[in-house]
Amino acid sequence: MTSELFSSLAGVRKVSRDQLDDLQLCRLRETLEHVYANSIVYRQKFDAAGVHPSDLVALSDIAKFPFTTKEDLRQHYPFGLFSVPMEQVVRVHASSGTTGKPTVVGYTREDIDHWATCVARSIEAAGGRPGDRVQVAYGYGLFTGGLGAHYGAEKLGCTVIPMSGGQTEKQVQLLRDFETDIIMVTPSYMLNIADEMDRQGLTPSDLKLRTGIFGAEPWTDAMRSAIEARCQIDATDIYGLSEVMGPGVAQEFVESKDGPTIWEDHFYPEVIDPETGKVLPEDAEGELVFTSLTKRAFPVIRYRTRDLTRLLPGSQCVMRRIAKITGRSDDMLIVRGVNVFPSQIEEQLLKFSALSPHYRIELYKQGNMDSVTIHLEPAEGIGADKAAAAGKELSALIKSFIGISAAIKLHPVGGIPRSEGKAKRVIDKR
Ligand code: DLL
Repeated sequence: MTSELFSSLAGVRKVSRDQLDDLQLCRLRETLEHVYANSIVYRQKFDAAGVHPSDLVALSDIAKFPFTTKEDLRQHYPFGLFSVPMEQVVRVHASSGTTGKPTVVGYTREDIDHWATCVARSIEAAGGRPGDRVQVAYGYGLFTGGLGAHYGAEKLGCTVIPMSGGQTEKQVQLLRDFETDIIMVTPSYMLNIADEMDRQGLTPSDLKLRTGIFGAEPWTDAMRSAIEARCQIDATDIYGLSEVMGPGVAQEFVESKDGPTIWEDHFYPEVIDPETGKVLPEDAEGELVFTSLTKRAFPVIRYRTRDLTRLLPGSQCVMRRIAKITGRSDDMLIVRGVNVFPSQIEEQLLKFSALSPHYRIELYKQGNMDSVTIHLEPAEGIGADKAAAAGKELSALIKSFIGISAAIKLHPVGGIPRSEGKAKRVIDKR
């Protein structure tokens, strides 16, 4: 009876906290038993910590179990953390990471089906419906974005346009000619696509595009407003990571746009103090941690995402939300002792219509001191003098809101490298 409720978004909206807790407890137990029985690595980790799956009596008992980190994945590269025989693994994905070996994840047929369900539900929460044309501009390949979005859109009954990332001119041509309703793409690449629309002389009224499902990188509410105003669409936030599944771990509802709702029937969330590892109360900011509830090939137990956020109560359904991700703990810049996230700079930058939303932050040493230069461009059609004046004002805002001194360097329009996937915004030369 209860599991039927979870099979549609309409059902999910009706689920009570008690029903959800029961399902989570049952699935959490199954997952712990599954990894203990089938993964040598997890069995050793549990034994070393002196815990056994039978120690989980209430949901909060999950805190007794050890964390899993990216380092664990690296150590057991490539397939050592899989919890089923390879014959049952129908797909692998991998994330490149900036250094060292990629982290590899695997899926059984049933895992792929659950993933498609989560993404289909995400597209529906974003306002999509069967019959919509969905242009997938996340990259296809080892990255989970393209194929994850693709299978979900098909499962909802949409017509998928599998563009993948890149070929920006063609992206715009297909948006127009194929009458795309929904685009799934990184927010930074959407800005690039919007520039290309301008170049082709197209306005939002030339397209049918209604909704964007944006994720795979941090983006601010200021960026949401900028994209919505420019493209005349609803911009919603999709969250996910390959180690936990891929896109569709959480998705924002279009009617509230108040942070992604975690699909809690598949993922059990906690927020911890990144220093001590202690579980924090709801609404406190810390590091997001996930435990799989339905995965078989590659379930993770208390996986430390390094993403910093807060858990919020549900708004459109009982499942909890995350506040927009401020950044990753490893993206935090420390400038002369001040902690800065690129998203804080983005928020200030987007206050200026004379400046384009494309930016890069360069860090370097001047003598022993950290220095910051923000590389910017004027907005289309804005003269250099006006942009320079805006740049000066921006620098003052950054000083007063964030507390760092930043030099501004203006480039000609098109001078900042454009993103075709995840944006690279920080160049740290220190
Ligand atoms: O980026 C999966 C994905 C694809 C999500 C398409 C959404 C859309 P990874 O390459 O493993 O997987 O990178 C995961 O990206 O830990 C966050 O730091 C960041 N991230 C993903 N979605 C968001 C978001 C995919 N909506 C890492 N807001 C995560 C902020 C995000 N950061």
